[in-house]
Amino acid sequence: MRESKMKPAGTASLKYDGKEYEFPVLSGTQGPNGLDIRKLYDQTGAFTYDPGFTSTSSTESNITFIDGDKGVLQYRGYTIADLAEHSTFLESCYLLLYGELPTKSHMDSFTTSITRHTMVHDQMASFFRGFRRDAHPMAIMCGVVGAMAAFYHDSTDITDPKQREIASHRLIAKIPTLAAMAYKYSIGQPFVYPKNDLGYTENFMRMCFSVPAEEYKPNPVLTKALDTIFILHADHEQNASTSTVRLAGSSGANPFACIAAGIACLWGPAHGGANEAALKMLEEIGTVDKVADYVKKVKDKTQGIRLMGFGHRVYKNYDPRAKAMQIQAHAVLDELGLHDDPLLKVAIELEKIALSDPYFIEKKLYPNIDFYSGITLKALGFPTSMFTVLFALARTVGWIAQWKEMLEDPHQKIGRPRQIYTGATERAYIPQDKRK
Ligand code: CMC
Repeated sequence: MRESKMKPAGTASLKYDGKEYEFPVLSGTQGPNGLDIRKLYDQTGAFTYDPGFTSTSSTESNITFIDGDKGVLQYRGYTIADLAEHSTFLESCYLLLYGELPTKSHMDSFTTSITRHTMVHDQMASFFRGFRRDAHPMAIMCGVVGAMAAFYHDSTDITDPKQREIASHRLIAKIPTLAAMAYKYSIGQPFVYPKNDLGYTENFMRMCFSVPAEEYKPNPVLTKALDTIFILHADHEQNASTSTVRLAGSSGANPFACIAAGIACLWGPAHGGANEAALKMLEEIGTVDKVADYVKKVKDKTQGIRLMGFGHRVYKNYDPRAKAMQIQAHAVLDELGLHDDPLLKVAIELEKIALSDPYFIEKKLYPNIDFYSGITLKALGFPTSMFTVLFALARTVGWIAQWKEMLEDPHQKIGRPRQIYTGATERAYIPQDKRK
């Protein structure tokens, strides 16, 4: 069990219903303090009301820190820009899971463990074949990741730290294999087995892009770009899918079921589906001369159009991940000789117009990570339907680190929000023949 690192930071008083109450205030190492209202209902008989949890900390965490106003994102204290430039995805996985950057020997054994777990049970292939060929790969991922619990019984006892660790390594290792299988299945090509002498991201690209008739030649610029994209997506503190994983895990559900729940939540267009939506939007705009008109439509709000890849619940400044993403977008397009890509031109113009428009400035809407990720992933050869799958692949480590942290938290209990009920009050049952 982990010790709480929150410190007392005074008290807050609340006047309610003619009485005054004092509540402790807790501080972390950085970021806003929290008013400890755990006894609020006991003492006052009232709930708090906070749909979307805009002012609610659901947990203490020491994994990822975001300062949305300043545009800061850190994993275990290391800035995302530093990690994007100097780390690898697998090293960042270690950092997120274990809290420190690995020594060489720790990294070697972690890499060996992940590499040796990349193959999936052969029966999984039949499971895939039960899906329609035109199934969305996210639908397949929800199914097959949840189904892992049926294949790996020996790592579902969440009370055993060793089993928790094995399940964590299995998930990180097998998610690329499953993601590549989902892709191969959708295009009617044979599944490609993992190859242990390749790096994590190289291996994934090979499983996606090689065919038995032709070997895939890894390109270091493209591999680095995808590896960086994975680093940028690896964790993002208590976002919707991570909170879903924690909530699912709070009931004692097994890790595979929890991660499947996270994948389902990530699928939505306001969350992980935004990269697909952002690319579709750029394609719909089509050419630079249509950008101004599109922005006008977004602003008049009558058609309910949002600028996809813009805005963020937490970042009220440039998303720090978007900068690293933009660097990779240019690197990939240059490497592939696509610097004249019309979608890139539309994106640059759209960003320029939006960043200088009072509507977006006043609402603090800046490009988020998804603005440039779609263009990059498309150039790497992935179809749009795979974009959210790649996000899920990368976020799996974040979900697991947060799930593990939750289970080790002495204050952990089943998540159970309350509500302000506004429905009918008690009334008598009416037999059907008497209903109007
Ligand atoms: N385009 C136009 N207007 C917007 C946008 C946008 N993308 N985002 C927010 N607004 C407006 C919104 O209409 C509202 O205006 P008003 O105050 O006049 O009613 C105001 O800004 C606040 O919007 P909100 O919906 O209350 O803000 P939120 O914090 O609940 O929403 C968001 C955050 C990400 C869901 C939203 O900005 C959005 O829908 N963005 C587009 C989708 C997107 O790019 N999502 C990816 C997020 S990053 C990846 C991840 O971490 O999952």
